[in-house]
Amino acid sequence: MAFDRSIKIAPSILSADFANFGAECRAIEAEGADWVHVDVMDGHFVPNITFGPATCAAIRPHIKGVMDVHLMIAPVDPYIDAFAKAGADIITAHVEAGPHIHRTLQAIRGAGAKAGVALNPGTPASAVADLMDMVDLICVMTVNPGFGGQKFLDMTAKVRALRALIGNRPVHIEIDGGVDPSTAPLVAAAGADVLVAGSAVFRGGSVSNPAPYGDNIRAIRAAANAVL
Ligand code: DX5
Ligand code: ZN
Repeated sequence: MAFDRSIKIAPSILSADFANFGAECRAIEAEGADWVHVDVMDGHFVPNITFGPATCAAIRPHIKGVMDVHLMIAPVDPYIDAFAKAGADIITAHVEAGPHIHRTLQAIRGAGAKAGVALNPGTPASAVADLMDMVDLICVMTVNPGFGGQKFLDMTAKVRALRALIGNRPVHIEIDGGVDPSTAPLVAAAGADVLVAGSAVFRGGSVSNPAPYGDNIRAIRAAANAVL
């Protein structure tokens, strides 16, 4: 996983067919996905429940590239080893999930994964200013986490502030929520390089008709690259 700031599209399998995760992961990668974004929800930190480490381990063999695991759970620390053992390349925890995000990030790297920190829409960039040397990725939520298909919230000023805080460090800025060809240019121009998209990738396609996934991925990537 060499670091670069080129635009990467990370489809969220929250919008996939839950009875077909293996085939869905193979389909989106075949259609041009750079990373696979895996949304873990606990019904406590967010008002929805998805799945846990066993599902991540089951889909891992179906993903050739990066498995990007977004933990919307609290507490986080008791589950880090399980997600690392499940094969997560990146494990992202929310800064709002508990009082000890610093310890959580240490534990993620200690478990052998890349460490990500996510910020809810109401959390300012300054909340992670003292964590810059502890993270490999900062995820800026552009919806309130919990559900796919919500309206994009403009966090462009926060992305610019984070980009300045990062400086030359090899830290990705990921955008999660409401990304489509109309919103991708806003965040790409502000300095984001990883674009998560659920509904905007999976709409119109299926495992038996995956070509729309490719069309959707190419449309988001082209819109983002057009402003760089
Ligand atoms: C929201 C999740 C997102 C979500 C994005 O809580 O973290 O990854 O699946 O879905 P869209 O792209 O449909 O907003
Ligand atoms: Zn997510």
